[in-house]
Amino acid sequence: MRLTVVSGLAYACGALAASSSVGSYIASESPVAKAGVLANIGAGGSKSSGAYSGVVIASPSTSNPDYLYTWTRDSSLTFKALIDQYTSGEDTSLRTLIDEFVSAEATLQQVTNPSGSVSTGGLGEPKFNINETAFTGAWGRPQRDGPALRATAVMSYATYLYNSGNTTYVTDTLWPIIELDLNYVAGNWNQSTFDLWEEVDSSSFFTTAVQHRSLRQGIIFANLIGQTSVVSNYETQAEALLCFLQSYWNPTDNYVTANTGGGRSGKDANTVLASIHTFDLDAGCDATTFQPCSDKALSNLKVYVDSFRSIYTINDDISSDAAVATGRYPEDTYYNGNPWYLCTLAVAEQLYDALIVWDAQDYLEVTSTSLAFFQQFDSSVAAGTYDSSTSTYSTLTSAVKSFADGFTLIVANYTPSDGELSEQYSKSDGSQTSAVDLTWSYASALTAFAAEAGTSYGSWGAANLSTSSCPSTSGVSVTFEVEYDTEYGENLYITGSVSELEDWSADDALIMSSANYPTWSITVTLPASTAIQYKYLTKYNGDVTWEDDPNNEITTPASGSVTQSDSWH
Ligand SMILES: *[C@@H]1O[C@H](CO)[C@@H](O)[C@H](O)[C@H]1NC(C)=O
Ligand SMILES: *[C@@H]1O[C@H](CO)[C@@H](O)[C@H](O)[C@H]1NC(C)=O
Ligand SMILES: *[C@@H]1O[C@H](CO)[C@@H](O)[C@H](O)[C@H]1NC(C)=O
Ligand SMILES: *[C@@H]1O[C@H](CO)[C@@H](O)[C@H](O)[C@H]1NC(C)=O
Repeated sequence: MRLTVVSGLAYACGALAASSSVGSYIASESPVAKAGVLANIGAGGSKSSGAYSGVVIASPSTSNPDYLYTWTRDSSLTFKALIDQYTSGEDTSLRTLIDEFVSAEATLQQVTNPSGSVSTGGLGEPKFNINETAFTGAWGRPQRDGPALRATAVMSYATYLYNSGNTTYVTDTLWPIIELDLNYVAGNWNQSTFDLWEEVDSSSFFTTAVQHRSLRQGIIFANLIGQTSVVSNYETQAEALLCFLQSYWNPTDNYVTANTGGGRSGKDANTVLASIHTFDLDAGCDATTFQPCSDKALSNLKVYVDSFRSIYTINDDISSDAAVATGRYPEDTYYNGNPWYLCTLAVAEQLYDALIVWDAQDYLEVTSTSLAFFQQFDSSVAAGTYDSSTSTYSTLTSAVKSFADGFTLIVANYTPSDGELSEQYSKSDGSQTSAVDLTWSYASALTAFAAEAGTSYGSWGAANLSTSSCPSTSGVSVTFEVEYDTEYGENLYITGSVSELEDWSADDALIMSSANYPTWSITVTLPASTAIQYKYLTKYNGDVTWEDDPNNEITTPASGSVTQSDSWH
């Protein structure tokens, strides 16, 4: 249904009118979004003819653009939403479909593709044909968020099954699938990647954030099911990822720079999507993990939203503190650069998530970093902690709720009467454009609506993480490289005489990347001007094989970075 509200007007009517419109939009759009997701899943989906069982198509559109493929990212985010519905008891009919998804992904993991085989980087391949064969055309590859998002989705399901007593299936069938993805993340997070929009090849905030989440969740999950041998390795890499995550913050302009490359402003929905997909209620408003209500994520949200105010015609005449249509990033030219439903809904979701946390903790905090965000609603507000009994708390939380609803209403306003959601809506008149029935648009509606209703799902271990042990800038970056022809399923590791190399522990040795197979590599931050001994080892079906004596040795430089190329002996 097309609501008769116009974005600016809905605002003038006040919070009450806005929230009842939001309520009626959600009531009508929820079933359409759910049906839209299900229609795009093979083999039974009504719009996904030809897709194998459990395969999620991105959209039924076969030309302008041709999206009749399956992407690991879109599929995993979509199934994470369905798995949350299943495990929370909201929809107990989804079990078979989830099992089919897991089987399809297990098959796709093993499909050799232009990024490699399962053991030489193929897990980073972004998209496949819907009959589970490799897509061999030119593409922005690899995209290293996929394995992390898939591991997160499958672990969410596996945790539920394990806690319900279905332990053998989890250990024997699901863990090998999860472990492949987590080992890929642990070994390859520090390699460059195409971003989630498949355009920029560098390091990307969304990718780093979801990789970090997957390893933290992996630590909890591996401990739960007794697979403790991976834990130390994942902890080491999760610590390094968390340190690296901090480097995207731009302290001068108070926002998260989305990519290290690309030559753009870096203002990008990438960062908002990262915040909602790493939301953990237990972490409160922690800024280390850019939680939705953290001062950094709120400041970033304002900078991101404001970057669209003057570039879309449909945002003209909307006051500077009200919701607007938002897209991927302001410099976007794809299909002429339009707002995307999933981006506008992500803004609403981040704000709804923030409200969930403030409500749970009974206070909100305004810091110098988040001041500009809160002053949109009350120019007199000052930095401070406001208990839920104060009028400032009431004023700010109801303003944030109205602001959040405003983004939902923008989407409502540009949803056609049948409720179908394409990828984009036109910046000039709001009509739908680009791919029809985009699965991710529907999934983003489901997760935003759940957040609006106050729902949050399982914790992944974001609480109480610290960056105090992050390497100081005095460390030096050392890349170790060694050529080695592995057997299928065999991985290369390094350990050595310092804690950064896990103190000669075979169990905790650092897994290396096979991105440039047969060269295996890893970049580690090590103490400067230090003589360090180390060895390479392989692990294969539980068997450890060390290099022969003597140990390798490197004396690190006083500063900068160095590459150490070795041959296995
Ligand atoms: C799978 O799909 C691709 C792309 O549509 C097609 O070229 C290929 O022949 C199909 N392979 C099989 C085994 O069906
Ligand atoms: C465990 O879950 C799987 C996946 O749904 C199912 O096939 C299997 O029958 C279950 N096993 C038990 C013991 O419930
Ligand atoms: C690898 O990690 C180091 C240390 O955090 C960082 O400086 C570098 O930019 C990272 N490179 C990539 C490609 O992730
Ligand atoms: C985090 O630390 C605080 C303060 O020590 C504690 O109250 C809280 O329970 C911890 N949260 C989690 C999830 O461990």
